[in-house]
Amino acid sequence: MKRITLFILTAIILVSCGQGAQQNSEMKGKGTIEIKPEEIKENAIELFDQKWALVTAGVPGDVNTMTISWGSLGELWNRPVVTVYVSSSRYTYEFMEKNGHFTVAFFPSECREALQYLGSHSGRDGDKIKESGLTLEWLESGLPSFAEADMIIEARKIYGFPFDERGFGDVPEQFYAPGRMGVHSVYVGEIEHVWVRGREGE
Ligand SMILES: Cc1cc2nc3c(=O)[nH]c(=O)nc-3n(C[C@H](O)[C@H](O)[C@H](O)COP(=O)(O)O)c2cc1C
Repeated sequence: MKRITLFILTAIILVSCGQGAQQNSEMKGKGTIEIKPEEIKENAIELFDQKWALVTAGVPGDVNTMTISWGSLGELWNRPVVTVYVSSSRYTYEFMEKNGHFTVAFFPSECREALQYLGSHSGRDGDKIKESGLTLEWLESGLPSFAEADMIIEARKIYGFPFDERGFGDVPEQFYAPGRMGVHSVYVGEIEHVWVRGREGE
């Protein structure tokens, strides 16, 4: 009984994110605007740590996405950058390695369950994007994103390499102990475009 209730609740939550998608799709065109990286008004720590994001890479027919809460926004080599950290154990890691671009997308709170789903299932095991209820879309640049996203960052990979354990302080021990999540690779992307949609006054 409990299971059925949980299933129904999950379905309702996923559907409401899907309905958001329709609204967002309608807003697309009139409600989607490009902003400069320096115009991102949200706090970067809050964005990643509390809102979470999807990092997505690939081409039509060969694409994967996963939820991230580790990431940063800033500047490197005189360029605006977004940095994400993807464990070698993730299927997404393969896509980050073989593609020169990736996107980082943020979502309204109604999509939280979908992000939870995409962060606890692997694209290796099936079509998790479809199962999540989110709508994969292709941006003008040819990069993958989602119709439900309220902020999308398009990035060109300018650095990608695993953390070197020689540089670890005391914090990472808990993350990189044998049997844990694998070593994360650092991917720094030069921000090429930032799109925001569906915000009041935009
Ligand atoms: C809230 C949340 C945040 C996460 N953040 C990260 C992260 O920053 N880096 C990472 O490698 N995995 C992170 N994960 C785990 C991946 O999203 C998860 O392992 C996912 O199922 C991998 O999917 P894939 O095998 O299709 O790539 C996070 C998961 C959740 C739920």
